[in-house]
Amino acid sequence: MPELPRIAARRFTWDLDVSTEELLQLLDLTARVKRNPQQFRWSLADRYVTLLFEKPSLRTLLTFELAIRQLGGGAVTMTGPIAAREPAKDVARNVERWTHCIVARTFSQDTIEELARWASIPVINALSDLYHPCQALADMFTLRERFGELNGLKLAFVGDGNNVAHSLMLDAVRLGMEFCIACPPGYEPKRQVWDQANALARTGGAQLHLTHDPREAVRGAHAVYTDVWTSMGFEGEADKRRRVFQPYQVTPELMARARPEAVFMHCLPARRGEETVDEVIESPQSVVFEQAENRLHTQKALLLMLLS
Ligand code: CP
Ligand code: NVA
Repeated sequence: MPELPRIAARRFTWDLDVSTEELLQLLDLTARVKRNPQQFRWSLADRYVTLLFEKPSLRTLLTFELAIRQLGGGAVTMTGPIAAREPAKDVARNVERWTHCIVARTFSQDTIEELARWASIPVINALSDLYHPCQALADMFTLRERFGELNGLKLAFVGDGNNVAHSLMLDAVRLGMEFCIACPPGYEPKRQVWDQANALARTGGAQLHLTHDPREAVRGAHAVYTDVWTSMGFEGEADKRRRVFQPYQVTPELMARARPEAVFMHCLPARRGEETVDEVIESPQSVVFEQAENRLHTQKALLLMLLS
């Protein structure tokens, strides 16, 4: 059994549960796992994981189930509201008796934190209203695979200051990247997350910018990232958002303003004709399916660091 680094917090409820050093270790371990999956074939033998999903998922649900199985463990999945029949604190204290880890996708970050407060086993955030930390891990790994190193890269995020943007900025600034978000007025990242990211950027000498001009954001960017204009849970605002976000569509013209070697990134699912178009997502610049593949490998590394 190979020697494995550990995550001191024993949880991943948001990005900063993993220190910068642990984040780098996780990216290194991901490379090992991806290169040589057989070496880790039985690392989680007799380990069981409970997946609690309040919202739909293709990538996150399937890659967690597959990651656990390919590491020799097992998964049980429950979809639907977590705390409909009993409080989350009771769910946590049932599940901890049967399994070794909870992976939860929730409407509210509070539910993730409540599960983590009461469960004696690690809780992993599989997306909440505030964060999508597992996505950011795969994205950082994808960028490192493509460019060799992350330090000094510029990542431009064009669109909603949402959960995906929050997690990306918290990781990017810790890894020495420049992060610039272009969003419409009123759709900026949450104040608390922005302040947190700013403090981290100042400490580490990284750059963090916000603009309302997508052209300014993508200038000199190594990667242009976008996400849906209407996240799960905000469907009632979809019509208004379609109008407000129209100038923020990632088009071939916008991509042409980034570096010639720039990649296009999207966490998926994408709404073609809204935040981007076929000519971009299907272009050679697009790494969206590399990102999706890497969800599997980074989540294996995460599970290994939390459970083995
Ligand atoms: N990117 C992502 O989390 O996809 P799913 O919603 O399909 O899990
Ligand atoms: N921001 C999107 C991401 C989906 C993976 C949402 O929360 O719906």
